[in-house]
Amino acid sequence: MNRTEGQDERQGAAGWQPATRLVHGGGLRSPFGETSEALYLTSGYVYESAEEAEARFKGEAEGYVYSRYANPTVAMLEERMRLLEGAESARATASGMAAVTASLLSLLDAGDHVVAARALFGSCRYIVETLLPRYGIRVSLVDGRDLEAWRQAVDGRTKAVFFETPTNPTLELIDIAAVAEIAHTQGAGPQGARVIVDNVFATPLLQSPLALGADVVVYSATKHIDGQGRCLGGLVLGPRDFVDEALFTFLKNTGPAMSPFNAWVLLKGLETLPLRVRASSESAARIADHLASKDRIRRVLYPGRADHPQAALARTQMRAGGTLLAFEIEGGKAAAFRFVNALRLVRISNNLGDAKSLVTHPATTTHSKLTAQARAELGIGEGLVRLSVGLEEAEDLMADIDRALAA
Ligand SMILES: Cc1ncc(COP(=O)(O)O)c(C=O)c1O
Repeated sequence: MNRTEGQDERQGAAGWQPATRLVHGGGLRSPFGETSEALYLTSGYVYESAEEAEARFKGEAEGYVYSRYANPTVAMLEERMRLLEGAESARATASGMAAVTASLLSLLDAGDHVVAARALFGSCRYIVETLLPRYGIRVSLVDGRDLEAWRQAVDGRTKAVFFETPTNPTLELIDIAAVAEIAHTQGAGPQGARVIVDNVFATPLLQSPLALGADVVVYSATKHIDGQGRCLGGLVLGPRDFVDEALFTFLKNTGPAMSPFNAWVLLKGLETLPLRVRASSESAARIADHLASKDRIRRVLYPGRADHPQAALARTQMRAGGTLLAFEIEGGKAAAFRFVNALRLVRISNNLGDAKSLVTHPATTTHSKLTAQARAELGIGEGLVRLSVGLEEAEDLMADIDRALAA
């Protein structure tokens, strides 16, 4: 057994709703008939004969050869995610950053051009701004909200376009369909530039970039897909001619493989993903409204609120506002630190998408490596606080926030 695609489709996976795909999709039941998916904690595989080994290496016989290439537990996770996202193919990686780096490096050659939104997670910004240019790849950073800026930046050498939406930490939105149209009509080659979307903040439940015209979706599975803060992981989903060819060749030879143990944890995480994302997103919407009523809060940034600068776009490309919000406290860094330090239930952490609500001060942590000017351009002020809403009762979180604001 190598892939379960054919098997699932025979069993009707193609017609299942997302929640059903996340419980049953991609399962590879062994002859023992286990209910819960098996953890195949193995690095290698044995063959019945030298001829069989030769045939597998030639690709003439089905089967696994080495877990840097593929592993049955990892394959279950990949297939379950593939079914959810509606992608032709999926590959797992050791972390979200491995997924981003592999997607870009496997696609690009020296002399190519990339256009990326400037509002990126810190390590993603390092990849595009510092790493790619070292290999002769030209990079342009644009204000992702400004479609005219994308039109100006994408040219006949542009091979890839990369952005996240909503952005971290200011929750700006980028119009996936409009940027994809620009990339496909103005970019390099007959099909234009490949559009790669980091869908971590929205989650696969609340936003479907491929259906909106993107070519490739990447995830840090470390976030909502695990959702319980246990392990790192990444995923890349997209067309077979990219994922199974250039990307797979890059992954199997450079080695950022996901551990089968992590794949098993993430596979089980997917079963509860819709329940967790729905509950956290509902609480986040309530907390955003609650914060907006407070005098000491200068602005609340939440895609689900009618006062979000791109509320109309949020309604067309997202199914709900998501589990993250940001807000500006009056009084700058001192006031933000006082608030963060006074929280008792919400814990201080730079992670997100967890069952536990987590608070971050982006200017001094996740975005501290940016220059003050770059932070100012992105609207990351000293009073800005990011909140990842978990699974606690919303009333308890609001009480904690109120107490900390009063401190
Ligand atoms: C939007 C976004 N993309 C990518 C990453 C990288 O993921 P990982 O930490 O799993 O490498 C993160 C978080 O760390 C993130 O928030």
